[in-house]
Amino acid sequence: MARELEIVRPDDWHLHLRDGAILKAVLPFTSKTFGRAIIMPNLSPPITSVKDALMYKDRISAACPDNHSFKPLMTIYLTESTDLMDIADGFSQNYISAVKLYPAGATTNSSHGINDFKKLYKVFEKMEEIGCPLCVHGEVVDPQVDIFDREHVFIDKILDPIMRTFPNLKVVLEHITTQEAVSYVKTSKENIAATITTHHLVINRNFILAAGIKPHYYCLPVAKREKHRIALLKAAASGSSSFFLGTDSAPHFDTHKESACGCAGCFTAPNTMSILAELFEQEGSLEKLEYFTSINGANFYNLPLNSERIKLIKETDPIEFPNKVFTGEGVITVFDPGFPVSWSVKSI
Ligand code: NCD
Ligand code: ZN
Repeated sequence: MARELEIVRPDDWHLHLRDGAILKAVLPFTSKTFGRAIIMPNLSPPITSVKDALMYKDRISAACPDNHSFKPLMTIYLTESTDLMDIADGFSQNYISAVKLYPAGATTNSSHGINDFKKLYKVFEKMEEIGCPLCVHGEVVDPQVDIFDREHVFIDKILDPIMRTFPNLKVVLEHITTQEAVSYVKTSKENIAATITTHHLVINRNFILAAGIKPHYYCLPVAKREKHRIALLKAAASGSSSFFLGTDSAPHFDTHKESACGCAGCFTAPNTMSILAELFEQEGSLEKLEYFTSINGANFYNLPLNSERIKLIKETDPIEFPNKVFTGEGVITVFDPGFPVSWSVKSI
């Protein structure tokens, strides 16, 4: 049985760092282990221009510990009035790496997002032409659609028509949660890929709802049935170039999660790589972990692999993680996978 595994330093292709005290408190958990991350722009107010993205990037760099070499890859948040030349200039100068599409009302701080997708067709045309990736929160917001069906309805009703009109648009279908999304990506051309989170590889909807409601397992898209979790795990552990890690680590204060109307998001940055090593080991696919965390995403984004490496070490006893992170403004609960984790992570 493998007790040590050396891999290229991983990247996180979907990460929420927030701002201010939270940014300072959570960033080191990512920057310690990951080389780069696609930074989500859903601050309040959102990052809607390249200028905002560059200012946010400076705040992230300032919050990064001096001994960590971490590169934030910035995104901007699409609105119905986004200036397509701002995207084109920002992308050509490498100021932004992707553009983020939130259907209005789909998730945390998405109210400035999109109601009418047709209004974006000029933007999509430009992005297709310049090869700028579109990161998509793939859920419909129609209150008539059951929350557990919102992802596959989005694929059929919104994403597929967009892809038929812009067949070469580079799209990352983010934080996928269903068998249907796995099949859609698998049967698409290589310009469509998907990120998978750590928590969706661990939990199904029973974790949230059975034996008492567990707000720290509530995230969007909401976790689905076990058969979907298994489909995600098989996709991640297959090593297929269309699937890569986007943790969607999404810190919220406990007071906002443990509430009558709790907000969505799981905070997985502190223990992601250890949990993934455990899962891939259980799947008998440890040798595929590096594709999922360190190779496929970089290739999709046309970036070189990180030159540094990390070592994962299987300890004799389970390792301890903090279960809370204190930010000075509030407490954030760390994701609990519900099983012991014995893989530790060392930079080499
Ligand atoms: C994210 C957040 O809190 O910003 N929440 C979540 O449940 N994943 C937003 C998102 O990516 O949907
Ligand atoms: Zn997210």
